[in-house]
Amino acid sequence: MTTPSLYHEALRPQFHFTAARNWLNDPNGLVHHNGEYHLFFQHNPHGLEWGNMTWGHAVSTDLLRWRQLPDAIEPDAEGTIFSGSAVVDTLDTGGFGKGAETAIVALFTVARPDSAGIKSPYVQSLASSTDCGRSWTRYAGNPVIPFIAEGNRDPKVVWHAPTRKWVMTLYLKDDSFAFFNSPDLKNWRHLHDMTVPGTSECPDFFEMPILGGDGGSKWVWTAADGRYLVGSFDGHRFTTETGLLQAEYGRNSYAVQTFSDILPEDGRRIQIAWMREGKYPGMPFNQQMSIPCELQLRSTPSGPRLTKLPVREIESLHEPGHHWANLALQPGANPLSELKGDLWHIRAEIEVGDAAQVGFRIRGEAAVFDAREGRISCLGASAPMKARDARIRLELLIDRTSVELFGNDGEVALTSCFLPSADDHDLELFTTGPPARVISMEAYPLRSVWP
Ligand code: FRU
Repeated sequence: MTTPSLYHEALRPQFHFTAARNWLNDPNGLVHHNGEYHLFFQHNPHGLEWGNMTWGHAVSTDLLRWRQLPDAIEPDAEGTIFSGSAVVDTLDTGGFGKGAETAIVALFTVARPDSAGIKSPYVQSLASSTDCGRSWTRYAGNPVIPFIAEGNRDPKVVWHAPTRKWVMTLYLKDDSFAFFNSPDLKNWRHLHDMTVPGTSECPDFFEMPILGGDGGSKWVWTAADGRYLVGSFDGHRFTTETGLLQAEYGRNSYAVQTFSDILPEDGRRIQIAWMREGKYPGMPFNQQMSIPCELQLRSTPSGPRLTKLPVREIESLHEPGHHWANLALQPGANPLSELKGDLWHIRAEIEVGDAAQVGFRIRGEAAVFDAREGRISCLGASAPMKARDARIRLELLIDRTSVELFGNDGEVALTSCFLPSADDHDLELFTTGPPARVISMEAYPLRSVWP
């Protein structure tokens, strides 16, 4: 048997990011600069399991076709490189720019060896690049934030225009986080702490316009698992106006981060998650990223809520599709019985009627809406979801080792990994109980991003 070439292995995701070889976890330093998206990532360059944490690096112009570059930030005598973020310092507040070359500045956690006998003596440090992220220089004044609490890590930075300051949210320990600000990315002032029971690690913080309703904007704070708070921020204090909210319910979504510096004329807030705990037996790589998703903050009767949907760029991978409209869906019938394949983008609007359940079966694994329970479930995880005017909308992105399911235009998302049986390439749309009706449905086979 010949060994398949890199990126063509049996369990290699075909449109999700994986490291060419070895381990990855959190997305880091997501930033857009000079027409390129940068995806740095927690990487073990030397093995298939977590360790030797290094910032791996990939670039893309469309969020899908990633080209992996040499590792960007590597461990040294100070320690290994944990998660963090990157920003474009357009106003050169830090003085790291070089002539016309604007600096990209990365802030990350240096996990120092445990020499002092303190558990996890982490500090926050900075590096800058003036060649579009290809090479990085550590700041001589590192660390920019000394050790403050046992778990302090994962700095995420955003520009706050009204106060002309950078704002950082940082994980501290247990379920507590901190906010800082800085005029120059080098000198940080501790603003306040925040406890968010049940959450930990990898915070993110950004302002979003409210769509629908009376407009305006709110600040959104997310934890590693994607659960979020909505509130107001005056440059000094984040005042939460909600309890902890949830849009993502899948089994394998963690360490979410959004891109910085997406151009105002684009204006999207795009998030990537590490699909934690996927299994890739026999592969030269381990772990994958989620599809980049666009977040929106929508006005609802309960207040502004996040929705999450795959970025529209996914349509560039569509092969000619199959379309259905106004189709009665009878128990036992499968309108998708002719379709075979592993890579799909499916969108459907279904009138549930009195059906007990309506769902898809993907290579044997069900993604089901249960009308009586008002829940949608997929691969062992489930989310509350209600039919609207007796209809539901489902969107599915299926890759070789993952299913991402989005319900009711992204009100809920279930991001999950699977390891389907190698000889099952079937798709099924099914109902139980009285018939349902497909108002409209489209199913597109997807091309691989790998030539
Ligand atoms: C989250 C995390 C971060 C840390 C990194 C280390 O998955 O534990 O808190 O910076 O991974 O790889």
